[in-house]
Amino acid sequence: MPIKAELHCHIEGAASPDLAVSQARKYNVDLSALVRDGGYVWHDFTSFLAAYDVVAGLFRSEDDYVRLADHYLSSLARDGAIYAELFVSPDHARKAGLSPEAYIRALAEGMQRAAAKTGIESRMVVTGVRHFGVEAVEAAARFAARSRHPLIAGFGMAGDERVGDMEDFVRAFEIAREAGLGITVHAGEFGGWESVAAALDHLRPSRIGHGVRAVENTDLVKRIADEGVVLECCPGSNIALGVFPSLADHPLPRLLQAGCRVTLNSDDPPFFRTSLAGEYEATRRAFGFDERTLTSFTQTAVEAAFVDRKTRAQLL
Ligand code: ADE
Ligand code: ZN
Repeated sequence: MPIKAELHCHIEGAASPDLAVSQARKYNVDLSALVRDGGYVWHDFTSFLAAYDVVAGLFRSEDDYVRLADHYLSSLARDGAIYAELFVSPDHARKAGLSPEAYIRALAEGMQRAAAKTGIESRMVVTGVRHFGVEAVEAAARFAARSRHPLIAGFGMAGDERVGDMEDFVRAFEIAREAGLGITVHAGEFGGWESVAAALDHLRPSRIGHGVRAVENTDLVKRIADEGVVLECCPGSNIALGVFPSLADHPLPRLLQAGCRVTLNSDDPPFFRTSLAGEYEATRRAFGFDERTLTSFTQTAVEAAFVDRKTRAQLL
């Protein structure tokens, strides 16, 4: 089993249906339309995002978030992971009634509990939600910049890529960059190659969340390879959400062949009936990757992690 590291997982999207059902019972919420046969029910990107918001709304107290982070990271460690970055969303916490400060404190406690039990290292990437609007994304960046929490290492943007333009978010990303945070942005998932090019031009990330639709433009693929931009690939998510019809059609091997730096990630694992170990295994089977190639994904993830230099050296 190769050692693993994950750069791209949304913490609310990592809540298992069992944990969501237990939270729903606690808060007297009817989840019968959302959880069926042990899995989440949704049918396209829009309904996925709506389901995600409902699940996020079931985590309301510090204890809930401690449990969520500990639960996910401990399972990741059992899958052979030594390092993980969690996308965390202060907007979702606020909507659920918790302050951003309390949310971060609770997640950090869960991360430390998982580390004490399993040794897994982790950091947070504060994430603005694109379809919540420019103001909200800037507020998330300002929060990340002033927080100075030692486990916050980066800033990113997720959400509906079909809403707004990358250019609209320049200020948010400048705020985060000036605070010394690592920068990543979702692009090239529901937007085409132009979205990836715009992210690189305007937001200057060192990593792209997904980025896989860069494959539509060979010059852009070359640029990504030449500039060493790291792609946070989430093949299982892409197939579940219909970005590509099957794993055999996924561009990961073509991007790798073209010299792009690629990592493997689970995105929102239970929503897509996957896991980090499942991603390593599925790509091994579909593309015939050997142990060396699989280990190179982990190596690239550690190299591209937003963690401090000393901790990175201990991971390598
Ligand atoms: N938020 C959670 N999962 C996401 C995805 N796959 N794309 C964009 N935003 C997300
Ligand atoms: Zn994502």
